[in-house]
Amino acid sequence: MDYKKYADETLEKVKVKMKEVAKRNAHKVPYITTNGKYDDRDGSQISWWTNGFWGGLMWEMEKLTGDKFYADLACELEDKQDANLMDYDGLDHDNGFKWLLTSVYHYKKDGNAASKNRGLIAATNLAGRYNVAGHFIRAWNDHVRKDDDDRGWAIIDCMMNLPLLYWAYEEIKDPRFLHIARSHADRTIECFIRDDGSVCHIVKFDPFTGERVESYGGQGYAHGSSWTRGQAWAIYGFTLSYMHTGDVKYLNTAKKVANYFIANTPESGLIPCDFRQPESPNYEDTTAAAIAACGMIEIAKHSEGRDKDVYMNAALKMLKAIDEKSADWDPKTDNITTKGTVAYHDGEKETGILYGDYFFIEALMKLSGIDFFQW
Ligand code: GLY
Repeated sequence: MDYKKYADETLEKVKVKMKEVAKRNAHKVPYITTNGKYDDRDGSQISWWTNGFWGGLMWEMEKLTGDKFYADLACELEDKQDANLMDYDGLDHDNGFKWLLTSVYHYKKDGNAASKNRGLIAATNLAGRYNVAGHFIRAWNDHVRKDDDDRGWAIIDCMMNLPLLYWAYEEIKDPRFLHIARSHADRTIECFIRDDGSVCHIVKFDPFTGERVESYGGQGYAHGSSWTRGQAWAIYGFTLSYMHTGDVKYLNTAKKVANYFIANTPESGLIPCDFRQPESPNYEDTTAAAIAACGMIEIAKHSEGRDKDVYMNAALKMLKAIDEKSADWDPKTDNITTKGTVAYHDGEKETGILYGDYFFIEALMKLSGIDFFQW
């Protein structure tokens, strides 16, 4: 299979569609589509966890086209995020998603002081969420979960936020950032990864003693099930920890979860919201597929022999399934990926979700060999 040819052809379709999408939504902070139209998280929702993805998507398009229009939109979004930096309650473990794709990438491109400052403030706040007794980074703040005391809650998604700490370490050479990232990753291996290679979404620790108390099904189908986006966060997140540290135990953990993911992938290549969900309702989640594909392509790059093909083929199968069955290439609508699901029980189902498009494009850029990396 000529991966590059496939990716280049598909990226041409991306360019045609995204030109219209970016023009139509230029000054918004989009997250999710309703009937093909993005919402706007500017103003009272400026601290929402996905807001950095619009900047990330604009930087992807700038890389693909060289068009400054996209860079200007990414910078506009980055400026708006300053309201989030000043909103203490709106800062949480998702600082990585928010500032890696905007300020840190911008700073790496042109060395500007304001972007560096934003990235380091976000990283320091993230490091400050580390619980020394339990060796984990606290996920959310009380205002998000009024029904439970979440001071001891950690979630698998946080693996994707650790690169903000690796960057801060690499930038200012202070090993505290590295220690905290590695300690959280190690504790995640101990407390989230099941023997069969699947992962829990939420683990509750006692915030005073640090002991693991219990796990929750979170956005998946049930306690003990396997929410596919959580599996995907683990696959890509542990791969990123390997890429930043060179510690092979993180690569092996990513492979363990990827092997479980591949073994449970249906023949169609379409990924459900949860690998243990019932036959009905049987929700699809294109975001999980796109994120897992990004992780598997990177795993393939760091594997030898037959393993290379196994992970590349699994990634390609999911990307082609999205392209052929769960994508909307009409420039009049805002989303490319169509079947993103926020959560099995509460949240939007089978709709366009901004980060589904972000990771779908990132995966294609990786296959094409384009030098673009925001993590
Ligand atoms: N990080 C939240 C989610 O994946 O929906």
